[in-house]
Parts: sequence; structure tokens; C-alpha cells
Amino acid sequence: MTTTTSPSSPPLRAGVIGLGWAGQQHVNAYAAAPGVELVALAAKEEELLASIGDAHGVAGRFTDWQQMLAEADLDVVSIATPTFLHSPMTVAALEAGLHVLCEKPMAENATAAARMVAAAESAGRVLDIAFNHRQRGDVAALRSVVESGVLGKIYYAKAGWLRRQGIPGLGTWFTRADSAGGGAMMDIGVHMLDMALHLMGEPTVTAASASTHAEFGPLGRGGSGFGISTVEEGVPFEVEDLATAFLRLDGGGTLLLESSWAQWIPYDQCYVALYGSDGGASVEWGGSAQEPYQRLHVWTEVAGVPAELQPAVGPHGQHAASVTQFLAKVRSGDAAAHTGAQALARARVLDACYASAASGAEVPVG
Ligand SMILES: NC(=O)c1ccc[n+]([C@@H]2O[C@H](COP(=O)([O-])OP(=O)(O)OC[C@H]3O[C@@H](n4cnc5c(N)ncnc54)[C@H](O)[C@@H]3O)[C@@H](O)[C@H]2O)c1
Repeated sequence: MTTTTSPSSPPLRAGVIGLGWAGQQHVNAYAAAPGVELVALAAKEEELLASIGDAHGVAGRFTDWQQMLAEADLDVVSIATPTFLHSPMTVAALEAGLHVLCEKPMAENATAAARMVAAAESAGRVLDIAFNHRQRGDVAALRSVVESGVLGKIYYAKAGWLRRQGIPGLGTWFTRADSAGGGAMMDIGVHMLDMALHLMGEPTVTAASASTHAEFGPLGRGGSGFGISTVEEGVPFEVEDLATAFLRLDGGGTLLLESSWAQWIPYDQCYVALYGSDGGASVEWGGSAQEPYQRLHVWTEVAGVPAELQPAVGPHGQHAASVTQFLAKVRSGDAAAHTGAQALARARVLDACYASAASGAEVPVG
């Protein structure tokens, strides 16, 4: 097991646990990454182990992930399994000396997420969480605009991901409280929370006031069929299909977050809007398959004249960029700078939101 720190070092030996949609993004990214050998896969589906293993020439195929960690001599591993497995699998991999890239949400709650950070710190290994949507070209362009200072002090933001009909895995681990930790906010709201805070320059969230609702899932409505895990008869819908949150930020700013798996709206919608002292901006995308849209706007003034900027937008990085950044962190040799602490802070915000929704009162972020 090696940590590569120079171009002449041997390739990093990579493995992936979980071969649903998410795991397959990691497989494709490692297969295309220079200086990496994808050598092992783990999942419960033997047919996927065979087809994906054959497609990428991966000899190591395991239905037992612990056997993979023990036998495959890995340097790095991606974990793309149901959310309640993220923490135990990550801790075991870190303790085995591997660097870990884990899917979002980090874990089912902040307590489980904190165990992951503690394991990374004591193992001296990189722990990274795949927030792939912040790798979009329009989001990266807007981040550069914010960093330039054009917007001035950003004191308010709104972010949301609303789906027309998109409850994933209705009747699987996705809709059970103990295995998913939450519903729409945990699953897709966390992407927009991450993106908004990333765009705003990482303010600390100090308090949350939130509400959750379940008007579609309990009736068996709003499912998308997403996910490969088996639907179990009688599995209850225990999570929310809509959540709204009002978040207080240090410095006095606020962030409104809305997340919905299913709603009576014409099409799926994702957005972040930023309101600053010297300018405003919005990035949004969505629409139907026939009429998708993607817009980036920046409003400010130039020499006293109201102006709209048109930032050049690069390609969407998505999972490939998340994997590339993870590998760069591993190769930097500076594991202490990459322990998953920022993702743990996101998990604490979500915990506060769910606690607020349960109590009906504003809750400080722990
Ligand atoms: N970043 C994104 O855009 C994105 C998109 C979808 C899902 N996700 C996240 O990725 C994770 C997986 O989601 P999914 O949609 O791929 O799930 P899924 O249910 O479709 O697939 C889960 C995979 O995990 C495997 N698995 C389950 N238990 C296992 C075990 N004990 N040992 C080995 N493998 C096991 C299954 O065999 C399967 O291959 C979730 O945390 C989800 O939130 C992220």
C-alpha cells in the first residue's frame, strides 16, 4: 500500500464498493484517471460485478467488502453504498490504511459522520466526500466571480432542488429513516446546501429553523424508479419528501434551502441565488427532457451603469472531477488537510434541520 507523491511513483490501486448509479460513476472515473489502476469491485449483485468487471478488466470482484479490503492491496477506495453503510465502511477502510472517497450524504447523521473524521485523523489518511454537483461548469464560473469580489458582501442566498416526480428507491433503503437518515433534504438538499455555502465562501451555519412534510411517499406516489436495490414489500416511507429550512450564518447572513423529491410543479428545478452588497447572481438548471434549461446570471454595475456579466462556462466536471480532486489530495501527501471536516459541518446542519422540524423551534447547529 503506497501513497503516491511524485510522478514516478507506481499507480494508485483503486477499488469501489457499491455498483449502483453512484458507484458506476466512480468506476468510470477511476478507469479514465491517469496513474490509477482499478483493481477491485465489491457489491451484492454478482451480474454487475461480472459485467462491470469485464468492461473495465477488473479482476478483483467481491460480494464481501471486508474481504476486498483485506485481500485487494488497495491504496484508495470509493464507497457508494446505502448511506447507513458509509460510516462503518469508511472507518474500516481508513483503519486498513486506505484513503477514502465516500458518496454524499456523508452519513445518516453527524454522530456517524464524526466517527469518519476521527478515523481519518487517527489513520493519517485522506477522507473526501463526493459533492459532484459543485463541479458543474456554471457553478465553478460563479465561484470565480464571487472570489473576484464583484458581488461584495453576500448576505443572503436561496438554494433549492425541487423534483416533479423523483423519489428514489421508493420502498428500499432510500425511504427508511434508519438507513437513509432523512429524505429529500438528506439526499438532494445536501448538494444545494454544499453548493450554496461553497459559493458564499464557507460561512458557518449557526442555527436552523426547518419543516419537513411527507405528502407523496406515504401514498406510494412520486417514485422515480431510481436505484438498483431491491424494493421490499411493506417497507414504510419514514422520511420527508419536502423540506424547507431557514439557516442563520455567522456575520448575520441567512440562507433559505428547499428540497423536494416530488411536487406539483411543471419540471425539475435546481438553483442558487446570491444577494450581495455590490451585485447579485443566480445559477439555475432544470426543465423537462425535451426542454432542459441552464442559466447563469450576474448583475452588478460598472462605472455606475447597471450591468449584466456573462461569465464563460467550462464543461461540467461531475464525478470525474470529484475523483480527480480526491486523487490530487491523496498525492499531495497532506492528509491532515483533508479529513472530511467540511462535510461533517454539513451533516451537523442537517441534524439541526431535522431536530428543528421535529421540535418546531429554531435549533443551534452543534
Ligand atoms: N453524488 C450523486 O450524484 C449521487 C447520486 C446517486 C446516489 N448517490 C449516493 O450514493 C450512494 C448509493 O446510491 P445508489 O443510488 O447507487 O444506491 P443503490 O441502492 O442503487 O446501489 C447500492 C449499491 O451498494 C451495494 N451494497 C449494498 N450493501 C452492500 C454491502 N453490504 N456490501 C457491498 N455492497 C453493498 C449494492 O450491492 C449496490 O451495488 C447513496 O449514499 C446515495 O446518496 C449519490
